[in-house]
Amino acid sequence: MSDIQEGTINALKKELTATSTSAQLDSLTSKYFSRKGILNDLFSKINSVPADEKQAYGKEMNTLKAQAETLIEKKRVELSKKPRKGTWVDPTLPGDTLPKGSLHFVTYAIEEITRIFERIGFSRASYPEVEWEYFSFESLNMPPGHPARDDFETFFIDEKSHSKYGRMVLTPHTSSGQIREMMRVGVPIAMINIAKTYRPNWDVSHTPMFHQFEGLCIDRGINITNLKGTIEYFMTSFFGEGRKMRLRPYHFQFTEPSFEVDVSCDICDGSGMIDSKTKCRLCKSGWLELGGAGMVHPNVLKEGGIDSEEYSGWAFGFGIERVFMMKQGLKLDDLRTVYENDVRFLEQF
Ligand code: DAH
Repeated sequence: MSDIQEGTINALKKELTATSTSAQLDSLTSKYFSRKGILNDLFSKINSVPADEKQAYGKEMNTLKAQAETLIEKKRVELSKKPRKGTWVDPTLPGDTLPKGSLHFVTYAIEEITRIFERIGFSRASYPEVEWEYFSFESLNMPPGHPARDDFETFFIDEKSHSKYGRMVLTPHTSSGQIREMMRVGVPIAMINIAKTYRPNWDVSHTPMFHQFEGLCIDRGINITNLKGTIEYFMTSFFGEGRKMRLRPYHFQFTEPSFEVDVSCDICDGSGMIDSKTKCRLCKSGWLELGGAGMVHPNVLKEGGIDSEEYSGWAFGFGIERVFMMKQGLKLDDLRTVYENDVRFLEQF
């Protein structure tokens, strides 16, 4: 072996020992075999070799090339057998942690409201969301064509009408559960019906689907004092101590007398003013409207098969999204955000 051959092979061997990745091997290959690489350089030196030595030099160079190729190929095989970094698994390592999910805040509010009423002996009921007109209107003292029905804009289902119950609708309010509860359970009743309700509105303060919770209590000797006490209990449990309540005379077909229920605003403490010049942004008047309530109308009791001479009852219906926002002291610029499923909004609650 000539000095050149031996020196080159030794240098290559040394470099191969230091090579541990196929990328390194690639650049080593091109260092030796590319057009301007070491081997070509040695080959081109043949021009300066004396004529009678040219043949031996060429032979020597070919042997050198073959040896270098073999060494590099051997290394390539060796590297391909070596497990690549990062592909082995250590089963004792803890797994990747996933972000913790949560339920929608309306679901939490439903759970909380259910617990509050269960504590005083109310049972949660669920009635159909796709309902007959009869349960949403007629049975609640709103006969066909009655103007009060206009207050409950309604989605109608494209289905055959029922001879007694009329058209199919998406329940516009949870009050439709009142008659169903009277028919199913009979007196006494202490029901909390929490459900989705539907009205065809879509603007900054309405979504076509929203939630209501409906209380219904019927027994002998039930009066407005019970209604007031129950709503007060709910308010303290849900909003905390120190909120005031007022009943404002109102009109609903299915209750007599009827009220709208207001709760004092937490932000301005019921004064309507933040300071001597600034009106409260949330309520403007010191009061926030919770929803409707009243003493169940005798016609409704009769429709539910209950003797209105012997029994009396009260009912209320409040919106869940609305009470939740009141609890947070929040006035959303756009209520539709609640159902747009943007996690950046939802994860705040
Ligand atoms: N159902 C009414 C609404 O959606 C609210 C309501 C008012 C419910 C008076 C009641 C009630 O039970 O007594 O606007």
